[in-house]
Amino acid sequence: MTMKLPDEVREQLAAAALDARQWAYVPYSNYRVGAALLTASGRIYDGVNVENAAYPSSICAERVAVFKAVSAGEREFTALAVATDNGGTPCGACRQVLAEFGTDTIVYLFDGEGNLTLETTVAALLPHNFGPQSLPPRS
Ligand code: THU
Repeated sequence: MTMKLPDEVREQLAAAALDARQWAYVPYSNYRVGAALLTASGRIYDGVNVENAAYPSSICAERVAVFKAVSAGEREFTALAVATDNGGTPCGACRQVLAEFGTDTIVYLFDGEGNLTLETTVAALLPHNFGPQSLPPRS
């Protein structure tokens, strides 16, 4: 079941995503992305896109936020905020990584002025996902 977050929590998450954009390392695309992930424990992990001269070695802001959280021991994600200039949606690879940890995670997209452009969920972004539930139980 998808929940609704209190307005002030959503605003705090939006502010974290917007603020993080300043640290995006984007010498090739100049497309700044900031992400902020709220965990079930109430912490917020932010992330930015980090590009590389070998382009495919770049990584998106959303995955940086997820990997920072997981590497701090977090695995339950309540909501993700993503801020870009134009409210762009998370790429397929990020949707897949998010789905690994649950499809109920709320996803808020914001434009560069902090306007909410879309409120959705990982389930809606990645229907019929292949996830942990798709594999046979390991003995
Ligand atoms: N990017 C993200 O950080 N998140 C997305 O969901 C879409 C794309 C980054 C990757 C690259 O640094 C730049 O945006 C342009 O694709």
